[in-house]
Amino acid sequence: MPADAPLIPASDRGFLLGDAVFETIRVFGGRILELPLHAERLRGSAAALEIPLAGDVEATLRAAIDELLAADGLAVPGIEVSVRVTVSRGPAELRGLLPPTAVRPTVVVQASRVLPPPPELLARGLHLAISTVRRDPLSPLAAVKTTSRAEFVYARLEARRRGADDALFLTIDGHLAEATSASLFVVRGSELATPALACGILAGTTRQWLLQWAAGVGLQAREEWLLPDDLFGADEVFLASSVAGVLPVTRVDGRPIAHGRPGPWTLRARSDREAFAREEV
Ligand SMILES: Cc1ncc(COP(=O)(O)O)c(C=O)c1O
Repeated sequence: MPADAPLIPASDRGFLLGDAVFETIRVFGGRILELPLHAERLRGSAAALEIPLAGDVEATLRAAIDELLAADGLAVPGIEVSVRVTVSRGPAELRGLLPPTAVRPTVVVQASRVLPPPPELLARGLHLAISTVRRDPLSPLAAVKTTSRAEFVYARLEARRRGADDALFLTIDGHLAEATSASLFVVRGSELATPALACGILAGTTRQWLLQWAAGVGLQAREEWLLPDDLFGADEVFLASSVAGVLPVTRVDGRPIAHGRPGPWTLRARSDREAFAREEV
């Protein structure tokens, strides 16, 4: 290795232990979407694991992301980018779980171009499989965005084996939680319901946006404890996340949701969110 090259040593605790936190942020045409929310969540995740984050996190991230996009030629009108920020506790000389008292976090910012979901997928809707992995809402880390994602990887593999596009997590007592990288929404009549944060889910930035959006379009937003039966009795079900936006769900465990086609509220949520991402509103 050149002496001044960026390097993650094998002793990095993010690599060895998943002792790290991250954010995935959408950038459209060089505009970083909802950076303050991501910076705040990153700060909270780091605090949960006592990983020190010095200085103005939002300003530091903005400068790093802008520099990276410029270097990669990605701050271009019309170009969609996913930026991942990973902060690990850094390298440790010692073996074992407790970190040394003085740590130097490793911070990595990566950018990759993303293409919008294929129109066929939007027309067909996602098929989900309920995972055998359960979430414990009382776990202090249930809602923290750590890189310790083996359970999420397992759930995606399990869903793929069952021919589904993504997995849906339930809590240990059988309530709906979230998908592997997206929040869950259920439309019934004039209500937009989503699992409450107390279900041990990530406080999604898109979730927050959609809860406010609902009021503006005449839907009553509800944060609740929902059950799988609520999916099968729903008019529409969709997922939402920063980079993928709103995606219809049309089947769960092989059973159709309503008529098995993306519904009108889902399509409207998607197009309003996309317009927001493109700063058209
Ligand atoms: C487990 C999980 N839930 C929900 C989300 C959606 O969060 P956001 O809307 O902030 O992208 C993500 C995003 O990566 C996630 O990993």
